[in-house]
Amino acid sequence: MEQKISKLKNEVKAKIASISSAKELTDLKVEVLGKNGELTLILRGLKDLSESERPIVGKIVNEARVELEALFNEKFSALERKELDEKLLKEKVDITVDKNYTLGKVHPLNAIKRKVIDFFVSMGFIVTDSPEIETQYYNFDMLNIPADHPAREMQDTFFITDDILLRTQTSAGQIRTMEKTKPPIKMISPGRVFRSDEADATHTPCFHQLEGLVVDKGITMCDLKGILASFAKHFFSKETKIRFRPSHFPFTEPSVEVDVSCVHCGGEGCNVCKHTGWIEILGAGMVNRKVLSGCGIDPDVYTGFAFGIGLDRITAIIHGINDARVPFEGDIRFLKQF
Ligand code: PHE
Repeated sequence: MEQKISKLKNEVKAKIASISSAKELTDLKVEVLGKNGELTLILRGLKDLSESERPIVGKIVNEARVELEALFNEKFSALERKELDEKLLKEKVDITVDKNYTLGKVHPLNAIKRKVIDFFVSMGFIVTDSPEIETQYYNFDMLNIPADHPAREMQDTFFITDDILLRTQTSAGQIRTMEKTKPPIKMISPGRVFRSDEADATHTPCFHQLEGLVVDKGITMCDLKGILASFAKHFFSKETKIRFRPSHFPFTEPSVEVDVSCVHCGGEGCNVCKHTGWIEILGAGMVNRKVLSGCGIDPDVYTGFAFGIGLDRITAIIHGINDARVPFEGDIRFLKQF
């Protein structure tokens, strides 16, 4: 009996070593250790042995069982590992193989925005963010825009509810800053704004502004003019001049429209400046007393200026883009030029 078991064990060991698939291994395991397996049958036959033989043979069979089980398990893991390695090798993807990819780059509008931000940061302004979805309170009320002002009408503003709208100007960010911060304040706030305009060569329902706000003791219009003149020189060219034209915004008093001398003709007159020699790039003014006091800032102690730069406009001027819709289209042929 002992010999029979030892022979069986050696045969099975040899078979396990030569097997190369998990299926064959499972079949062999059933043949040997399964319900009707060879070793199991021997174990069952123990009852027919004499009482003195039974424990000795029983011990040998059990040892053989334990030894073979361990060998099966070892082989199963080896086969599993091998199969996984083969699978990984087969499914390997070389991501560097496709040489036809195109590299993206910064959109011209964002490139200009970053340049404008860099200038103001270098002048000590901090950059703030403000929501694109606003309330009437921040977009209009607090900016001294009366309830019957035409800008508040459905045809000009995208209303979400009676009270909630897509901001029409980054000026809403001035209020959010003044509510939270006490002077001195020196901030810019760039972002998207929305107006219910039909898209054409000079209008798009979404465009970009960069708001600026300075509030402190003794701030005057000279400070506004100084900062904007430096900006124009830094941004366009050393020769660029600015001029102020009287204008009206409910939240600034006095208000101005600011032009730069034409960057294309230097002021001689050309198609870009419509032969005027000047190009309008922003609205600005001294912060209205009502706006300051609305935000809890004493207008007898503090004064300030604010400005709103049209980022799309200066991008168009710099790159000679003559249709406002094109930068929004994401057309690769357009973007590739920058
Ligand atoms: N918010 C104004 C506009 O959208 C621009 C502006 C900003 C004017 C700040 C004055 C001060 O036209």
